[in-house]
Amino acid sequence: MKHALVLLLLAPTLFGAAAIRPQQLRSEYRANPQGIDVTDPRLSWVLSAADPKARGLRQTAYRVIVASSDHALGANTGDLWDTGKVASDQSAHVVYRGKPLTSGAAAFWKVQVWDQNGHASGWSPPAQWSMGLLHPQDWQAKWIGHDEPVTTTDHRLAARLLRKEFQVEKRVRRATVYYSGLGLSELYLNGAKVGDHVLSPGLTDYDKHVLYVTFDVTNQLAAGRNAIGLMLGNGRYHAPRLQANTRNFGDPKAILHLDIEYQDGSRSSVVSDETWKLSTAGAIRANNEYDGEEYDARMELPNWSRASFDDSQWEPAHIVTAPAGVLSAQIAEPLRVTETLHPVSVKMLKPGVYIFDMGQNMVGWCRLRVSGPKGAQVTLRHAETLNPDGSLYTANLRTARATDLYTLKGEATEVWEPRFTYHGFRYVEMTGFPGEPTAAALEGRVVHDDMEKSADFTSSSALLNQIHHNMFWGIRGNYRSIPTDCPQRDERQGWLGDRSQVSRSEAYMFDVAAFYTKWMTDLADSQKPDGSIPVVSPNYWPNYYDDLTWPGTFIFVHGMLYDEYGDKRAMERNYPAMKKWIDHEATFLQDGLMPKDQYGDWCVPPEDPKLIHSLDPARITDHTLLGSSYYYQLLRTMARYARLLDKPADAADFDARADQVNAAFQKHFFKPAGNIYDNGTQTSSILPLYFGMVPPDNRGAVFESLTRNIEQTSNGHVGTGLVGAQWLMRTLTDNGRADLAYQIATQKTYPGWGYMVEKGATTIWELWNGDTADPAMNSGNHVMQIGDLAVWMYEDLAGIRSYSTRPGFQRAVIHPIPAGDLTFVKASHKSMYGTIATSWTRDAGHFTLEVTIPPNTTALVTLPAQDAATVTESGRPASAARGVKFLRIEPGGATYEVASGTYTFRSTF
Ligand code: BGC
Repeated sequence: MKHALVLLLLAPTLFGAAAIRPQQLRSEYRANPQGIDVTDPRLSWVLSAADPKARGLRQTAYRVIVASSDHALGANTGDLWDTGKVASDQSAHVVYRGKPLTSGAAAFWKVQVWDQNGHASGWSPPAQWSMGLLHPQDWQAKWIGHDEPVTTTDHRLAARLLRKEFQVEKRVRRATVYYSGLGLSELYLNGAKVGDHVLSPGLTDYDKHVLYVTFDVTNQLAAGRNAIGLMLGNGRYHAPRLQANTRNFGDPKAILHLDIEYQDGSRSSVVSDETWKLSTAGAIRANNEYDGEEYDARMELPNWSRASFDDSQWEPAHIVTAPAGVLSAQIAEPLRVTETLHPVSVKMLKPGVYIFDMGQNMVGWCRLRVSGPKGAQVTLRHAETLNPDGSLYTANLRTARATDLYTLKGEATEVWEPRFTYHGFRYVEMTGFPGEPTAAALEGRVVHDDMEKSADFTSSSALLNQIHHNMFWGIRGNYRSIPTDCPQRDERQGWLGDRSQVSRSEAYMFDVAAFYTKWMTDLADSQKPDGSIPVVSPNYWPNYYDDLTWPGTFIFVHGMLYDEYGDKRAMERNYPAMKKWIDHEATFLQDGLMPKDQYGDWCVPPEDPKLIHSLDPARITDHTLLGSSYYYQLLRTMARYARLLDKPADAADFDARADQVNAAFQKHFFKPAGNIYDNGTQTSSILPLYFGMVPPDNRGAVFESLTRNIEQTSNGHVGTGLVGAQWLMRTLTDNGRADLAYQIATQKTYPGWGYMVEKGATTIWELWNGDTADPAMNSGNHVMQIGDLAVWMYEDLAGIRSYSTRPGFQRAVIHPIPAGDLTFVKASHKSMYGTIATSWTRDAGHFTLEVTIPPNTTALVTLPAQDAATVTESGRPASAARGVKFLRIEPGGATYEVASGTYTFRSTF
């Protein structure tokens, strides 16, 4: 009896219940993506523990089955691919090596894993992906639209409506629509919107790539007569400004291919061509991303995307010139409305003029709820801040009008939101509202690339928490299928310099792998044949200066993708382009130094609150110093990539060239008397220190002169612009002055992120003096000055970072630094392998660290301790704890090798 009981208890392990379960399946970054054009997609899964208390869980083998139907998958028939049992711990980026995938093919898959004891899990929940149209000839469709001669410099076109009716005679098995509507489009089938994308498709250089999107519309088709309606807006294809420097690609146009597979095995398709009908007489009278949308509800064409609508007054669609770019699948997440805010107040400024406050500087648009007489017009103007008299402050929007206009049709309650514009705003001015509006008249619709959120940071510092909040809102607000500089004024461009290390900060806020992979394609697309990369990409503003500092982002981001996601594919693909650019830049070297720096340490805190750029020579870092130190670091980074890609000769060459640059750099800029470089700005020390250029004998002294500058000249405040800010926090912390980094981060006086908070900011400003500066350049929502602040919060304060040779957090380095007066930090990061979490507190010389390491990963855990003997884990000596192995004790703390699981360490320090 007793034996039987023991056996029963042991049964799950004896008879093979695995301790891990595969979940959250992703194919080429996304859960169940439709219409991808990667023919060897990478499959990833996350392992969850059957018992949350278990430790040391690992995958030792997997089996993936990919089937051409869900039926086959259910029967465990991998007719596309069956890996069989593969002895491997790989659970991320398993490359599909099955039968070739053809255009439109659907793939259904699941995975089974074996744990550290060799026990097999059950099958994961099923997942799927589908292929896009892989060859130009698959598109039996033509580009259609309505081209108008370009007449004015402020060309606000009415939206184009395109429609087509078709017959469905047989029972449908599967229907898939592939389409691209440029600049922006919304698709309707039988009166209902297809999907939930907004501002779609993503931005590209339309001469190089044009993105299409794919939807399974099986359930939206009806038996008999059907209708498709496609609405086209301008986006950036028809440039928001037809000024000299802005590229204009033409008038809106679309291509669409609907593929219908019937139950009987036959197929038919509906494609865009001259048989479609077109109208420009719908309700969207004008649309422009910067200026806003004008909507006249009296002109709505009810049921225009349903069968039986009378389109006899519509003209035939014109066949228009195809964009030059290659049609490619949109793989990154689309933009969506991700959240709805409700105004925190409505105030009457004067009769008929109301100011709504959303309580948060947000990006998107408003949804209006109104009733009133036909023809009444409600105007919504948007701004980030208010003038002292309570009116909208719009000077910093430059020429962007940020104004939406709604004309009522005179029905009971009219609910409207724009489609083809977006604004950066906290405040909305409403005029023309019939009667007196309440807060319910407007909602704030938050719009951005809908990437999975991974941000989760709280600490004992309310200020730091608010700064984290401001970064989060600033970062999400600047995702518009490219990372923009700002969302409100007439720029909104993909400025490269702004994202150098900020992109790494972002990786702790959102899953940016697919997003940045796509932007790297944009950057490669922007490269000129001679190798030059512009400072803005897609190059809607073709600004090619052969600058070193801004385009350096092209190199750095590939390292972020590797470190944070273990993803080498973009690096591999773009390596030749990166190398070409590095070599192009080499032609500008003078006496071994790199003079190519266009913008300097952009926006250092100026001496005069009104200034945009400092005029004080002591605050300005020399261009050649910036260019040369960046070039050095870029060469070193390229050497690292060359090694990762198994190109040792390239690696040696890049390293040798880096050494040469540094030799010239030291000779030219080092001032031994003060242990400074050149004029000794903060940035001029930060770069050589962080990049490892300073000879070992001088390091200590150079670092000391940097901290002296911060403490004495800047009084413990930030003294860098965009360039220095990318490396500031890590330079201080890596060299033992986390306390100073913390002091800078939590200053409430000018300049600093805390100063912005004190002044009421809910995002991050472009300028440290954004409250007082010249309106020509003072966006309230720029991310460039975030620099490495979020990297520091997650990697240093929370102590969660990826191990360089087992990237993507397959192995984590857990090393929290209790800086300043912080008494606790709690954070987590959602990685490819699952969520890594830390939570630490300290009181009276004791440090407690709770840490969670997901299954199939390991960690090196370091916590402050004077003596390893005092360290416990769950109450017993840490060195004896399950899943824990003591490695060493150093002045920095005690270090342990830790297997997956949740641990509570406690030390005395
Ligand atoms: C943009 C910046 C950009 C800078 C460079 C500004 O107008 O908003 O973010 O990096 O120009 O010139």
